Amino acid sequence: MDISTTFAGLKLEHPIFNAAGPICVTKEELEALGRSQGAAIVSKSCTLEPREGNPKPRYKDFEGGSINSMGLPNLGYLAYKEILPQLAQYKKPIIASVSGLKLDDNLQIIKTFSEVDSIDAVELNLSCPNLIGKPQVGYDFEQSREVLTAVGKVCKKPLGVKLPPYFDFVHFEEMANVLNASTVQFATCINSLGNGLVIDPEKEQAVIKPKGGFGGVGGSGVKPFGLANVRKFRELLKPEIAVIGCGGVTSGLDVFEYILAGADAVQIATVLQQEGPDVFTRLLSEFKQVLQKKGYTSLADFKNKLKVM
Ligand code: DHB
Repeated sequence: MDISTTFAGLKLEHPIFNAAGPICVTKEELEALGRSQGAAIVSKSCTLEPREGNPKPRYKDFEGGSINSMGLPNLGYLAYKEILPQLAQYKKPIIASVSGLKLDDNLQIIKTFSEVDSIDAVELNLSCPNLIGKPQVGYDFEQSREVLTAVGKVCKKPLGVKLPPYFDFVHFEEMANVLNASTVQFATCINSLGNGLVIDPEKEQAVIKPKGGFGGVGGSGVKPFGLANVRKFRELLKPEIAVIGCGGVTSGLDVFEYILAGADAVQIATVLQQEGPDVFTRLLSEFKQVLQKKGYTSLADFKNKLKVM
């Protein structure tokens, strides 16, 4: 069985790796991902300056998923410029997630990362829902076009975008048009569903503190939206642009569904936060079992082959 996959020129032994978010902020966390069976390493979305993030509690599991309003806690891009090359020993692709607070920040960060040999790709985050007063760039198609035009001029690495979920066919088309006219080589669908609210009815209180309890929702409940976004973007994007699935993966069967819907690889976040880096071993073994049962020996046997009635 060969379950390797390639996107944006990156070769992965198998299709499962971490999403920017949990357990990828510090050097220790990134090293744990390096030692894990994750097929690539993605670092936490970084900003120009280090950030503490929002007040705690800012992450909570609930039945069916998780809610977070982390507020971009990260070490600042200069720290990742030093740390990421130290992960080269793990011999897997290293993807730097970038989420500057303004365009100039993104340009400065991406220019710098472009000169770092061991950074294999940049994933530009257009979809952080947790910054007060900052709308998600991915919901503004004109701004997205401007950002990608400017970033495309300075980025010397394969460039990807992390997209928010879309819920309307017109919006899928608008964003696909923006991406098809850009230098983007992969699109990761989806970030959390922005600004949900989870309530503890005993305490009659929101379960997280920032933003009056509003936060990004991930986990199994968002999987139908992740699958739909992967499916739609695979249909609308030119074939050279890879689609990375993300949202609600908790089993090897979920990984299979994402690839069936058109994903070239799959990221995990909530389940990684809940189970830790050993989760990759479980998911990989479950995924291989699914393929074995179905008699598939490569991803090409079923990728983007979803049947519709
Ligand atoms: C954070 C959350 C996100 O969904 C994201 O894309 C970037 C940052 C955060 O709150 O840290």
